[in-house]
Amino acid sequence: DKYRIAVVVGSLRKDSINRKLALALAALGPQDFSFEHVAIGDLPLYNQDDDSNQHANVKRLKSEVANAQGVLFVTAEYNRSVPGVLKNAIDHASRPYGQSAWAGKPAGVIGMSGGAIGTALAQQHLRNMLAYLDMPTMGQPEAFVQNKEGLFDDKGHIANPDTRKFLQTWIDRYVAWVKMHAKM
Ligand code: FNR
Repeated sequence: DKYRIAVVVGSLRKDSINRKLALALAALGPQDFSFEHVAIGDLPLYNQDDDSNQHANVKRLKSEVANAQGVLFVTAEYNRSVPGVLKNAIDHASRPYGQSAWAGKPAGVIGMSGGAIGTALAQQHLRNMLAYLDMPTMGQPEAFVQNKEGLFDDKGHIANPDTRKFLQTWIDRYVAWVKMHAKM
């Protein structure tokens, strides 16, 4: 059976470099893994009053995560933290209390921005949340991908050989991490 990975991109931007990175990472993954992007842009703003009557799109997000063997977060950094849209999605799928979709799902955290330490603080804040949500999260290798001219080729694959090698190692380790922690 295939391992399904729910890919959560922490950016809604049409030309998001993090979405590009997520697609390029998926292309480096093995045959027995399928990477499925989950939509977070169509969720309402989280309101605890709705916990007993979750929006259809929230239920959809929760079932996509529940049906996955792992979660891959590929996030932008906004003002040295995670974008609000990502926090909103995390909060939604963590509720109602005791019915979190995240619990126990092995996670990987990666991100890309223009800065040399780009997304490091966003990733650290995200790790804090994932620890609380009881998601076994791969600690190493870390990856703070800097957006440089020529990083992607015209097919969206990683063009730079050193970066490709590094990201291949990253995805190989993530695959092993999921296999170690997934409940099939
Ligand atoms: C940013 N950006 C940014 N970059 C960074 O490295 N650290 C930061 O704290 C921030 N803060 C920030 C706030 C806001 C509101 C915006 C709109 C942007 C720049 C950001 O990395 C850049 O826009 C990326 O292209 C965002 O990723 P996506 O949307 O291309 O995936």
